[in-house]
Amino acid sequence: MPRASSESSQGPSQGPSPEPLDIGPLGLEDRPALFDIFEDVVASGDGYPHRPPLTAADFEATWSGPSVTTVGARRGRTLVGAYYLRPNFVGRAAHIANAGYVVGRRWRREGVGRALVEDSIRRAPTLGFDAIQFNLVFASNPARALYERLGWREVGRVPEAVDGEDAVVYWRAVP
Ligand SMILES: CC(C)(COP(=O)(O)OP(=O)(O)OC[C@H]1O[C@@H](n2cnc3c(N)ncnc32)[C@H](O)[C@@H]1OP(=O)(O)O)[C@@H](O)C(=O)NCCC(=O)NCCS
Repeated sequence: MPRASSESSQGPSQGPSPEPLDIGPLGLEDRPALFDIFEDVVASGDGYPHRPPLTAADFEATWSGPSVTTVGARRGRTLVGAYYLRPNFVGRAAHIANAGYVVGRRWRREGVGRALVEDSIRRAPTLGFDAIQFNLVFASNPARALYERLGWREVGRVPEAVDGEDAVVYWRAVP
């Protein structure tokens, strides 16, 4: 369950509680909503190195493929966030997953990202992974605090990875 939002700037703090968060595998019917969320993320330049505007090919390369698992978070019928899990390497290193998370702008800072990351920690072992590695977390990405709080440790740095900014490599065993 998401944490209650104590400092959200996304909307009024009073009023009805948001619908409960439902996390589960994505289907083809979710693709348009996922494209919209990811297109906005790519347009903002936050978190992913893709060049805007997002193309269908870049979207498919990120979110599709036989070895890619996609999971979404819904409030009611609305897709509010998602993540993918895929092998980060081939062969004998394929036990290490790579993951990427997105939350739609209007639903951020309400615990959706944390719920998705926690779900991926539980789900990755069921898919045969024993670790999750992030290859390219921008040094300035506020999500770093979330990853570090949830057990990832910095195992490397890529100098000037994206537009002159360093990127951090994170790893943690799962579960
Ligand atoms: C990163 C992202 C998935 C987080 O989703 P979210 O639903 O806003 O995350 P949560 O509400 O669960 O926040 C969890 C923690 O993340 C950190 N955090 C997330 N966004 C933050 C921000 N803008 N500023 C500061 N801290 C932030 C905080 O530590 C936060 O905990 P807190 O709310 O107790 O301070 C979302 O901001 C996003 O989609 N960003 C664009 C894409 C991206 O950067 N993805 C990660 C690629 S490595």
